[in-house]
Amino acid sequence: MTVDLHADAPRLPEGLSLDLGALLGGDPWPVELELGPGRGGFIVERLRIEPSVRMVGLEIRRKWAATVDQRLRRLGLAERGRVFAEDAREAVPRLRPASVSVVYANFPDPWWKRRHRKRLLLVPGFLCELCRVLVPGGELFVQTDVPERARAYEALVRAHTGFEPWGNEARVADNPRTTPSPRERRACADGLPIFRLRWRRI
Ligand SMILES: C[S@@+](CC[C@H](N)C(=O)[O-])C[C@H]1O[C@@H](n2cnc3c(N)ncnc32)[C@H](O)[C@@H]1O
Repeated sequence: MTVDLHADAPRLPEGLSLDLGALLGGDPWPVELELGPGRGGFIVERLRIEPSVRMVGLEIRRKWAATVDQRLRRLGLAERGRVFAEDAREAVPRLRPASVSVVYANFPDPWWKRRHRKRLLLVPGFLCELCRVLVPGGELFVQTDVPERARAYEALVRAHTGFEPWGNEARVADNPRTTPSPRERRACADGLPIFRLRWRRI
């Protein structure tokens, strides 16, 4: 018999039209959403250095969701930040429209094998869901160190009428936030190029 050590990892409440802001302390005001925070370096640091920010992470790996959520609690940040053990593809469609101010997808889609393609996160249907939950003027920020993925994401978002590049084009040289994600930190240390893409929800 196998025991699931993280069966009690935090989950979103049942139901539809969930308001992430209301799940945190304070007003039901739009929150920032990180897809796949992994070991949580970005969400934890961002909440630590930006006292006005509220963030939710959706992480498919229960162990990491539980670990990072506990860390936020230990640091006294749980009123402004939570990580839920959820498949973002299933959770985002259950969120209330226009309830998210920024979506971060830091190095998503670690799926390389052909048989794993069905797991890809940034695909047309999911992009429509991100568009739906973002407030008008809200931001979609994506980073990857894989050039073909960057090109594919650009083509995907260009084909969607709900987004426009943040500046003249979607690609930006630097991360507009000062807090790197764990993968971003490693890629920088290894001297890998990082492709950063930034769009505005129209
Ligand atoms: C390459 S890691 C990047 C982790 C982190 N964002 C960073 O930049 O260091 C991709 C992360 O996305 C998570 N992930 C993959 N598919 C997901 C999904 N459908 N829903 C939520 N998380 C997912 C993985 O478990 C992993 O933590």
